[in-house]
Amino acid sequence: SCLGKRLYEPSAKFKNQNRLKADNSKFKNQNSKLKIAPSGATIQKSKFKNQNSKMNILVATEKPFAAEAVEGIKKEIEGAGHKLVLLEKYTDVADLKAAVADADAMIVRSDKVTPEVLDAAKQLKIVVRAGAGYDSIDTAYAKQKGVVVENTPGQNSNAVAELVFGLLVFTVRNFYNGKAGTELKGKRLGILAFGNVGRNVARIAKGFGMEIYAYDAFCPKAAIEEAGVHAVNSQEELFEKCDIVSLHIPATPETKQSINYALVNKLEKGGILINTARKEVINEPELIKLMAERADLRFVTDIKPDADAEFAQFEGRYFSTPKKMGAQTAEANTNAGIAAAKQINAFFESGCTKYQVNK
Ligand code: 3PG
Repeated sequence: SCLGKRLYEPSAKFKNQNRLKADNSKFKNQNSKLKIAPSGATIQKSKFKNQNSKMNILVATEKPFAAEAVEGIKKEIEGAGHKLVLLEKYTDVADLKAAVADADAMIVRSDKVTPEVLDAAKQLKIVVRAGAGYDSIDTAYAKQKGVVVENTPGQNSNAVAELVFGLLVFTVRNFYNGKAGTELKGKRLGILAFGNVGRNVARIAKGFGMEIYAYDAFCPKAAIEEAGVHAVNSQEELFEKCDIVSLHIPATPETKQSINYALVNKLEKGGILINTARKEVINEPELIKLMAERADLRFVTDIKPDADAEFAQFEGRYFSTPKKMGAQTAEANTNAGIAAAKQINAFFESGCTKYQVNK
């Protein structure tokens, strides 16, 4: 198909897109507002086919890419004859709205692409989220407006997985306070969702000599076992069986607030919950209540919770990075950024929408 096979192609057995599609389809028959994919408009795939005119490509990143990634994106975009416009570190949505006004395509990270932003974009045809999760983009509204939304699955997943272990070693060594800690070897690690990040976490965990378990509502057990990981039947079983649970679920209507008191309370004594996914999946008041009751539990996160100040009272048992940094490496930025640029070029060149998430 268009764009060919990538060096890091998401597993054929299980793609992030499928996970999110599957989540959405759950709500299809419920007549609820949560239904994401309206059945009406279909996005014109071939509208821009063979149209070789110069396009304005906006890179809008509130949290900028590494300089080498920007260079790589620029090379790709300009190499295809288009113009690159860079908007970095913006603090006001008005700046994004002004910049997107005459953009034909846009590359973003976790930047919020709301109806307000989409309405300001008068000639936008495609938005590519340089990364995995696209919960920050109103995909249904984009579809209504005929704007293709794509992601770049798998491109930054190793970076996130490496941070999981950076945070875990830091945690079991008591946040490097000098007191005797513990080791990861021999501990039972539970991976919640076996997508691209989950698979990388499993690969690295093997090097640490951990016992690895995983649960994924949308991935066949056989595919998990094939990766040398014990597949369990439910997320409850995962929490029950493990010393550490690492979250890799997307933020969907179904997963939001799903990591709650009852679930986390199933963790063994001395259990650790690590979140490098999305803050929305945690039920913060319930986790605070549980941590107040159970002095053995630890919670480390790469996404500062809304209730950061309350969690901070659990000194020595709670840590949050100042800003989500899982995918913040030169390699991840370059992989995801260049993949996004190539996807935009392929879209304008041949109408390719291989990674579209709002079909
Ligand atoms: C993702 O969904 O790809 C990660 O959460 C990374 O997000 P970021 O680009 O905002 O760092």
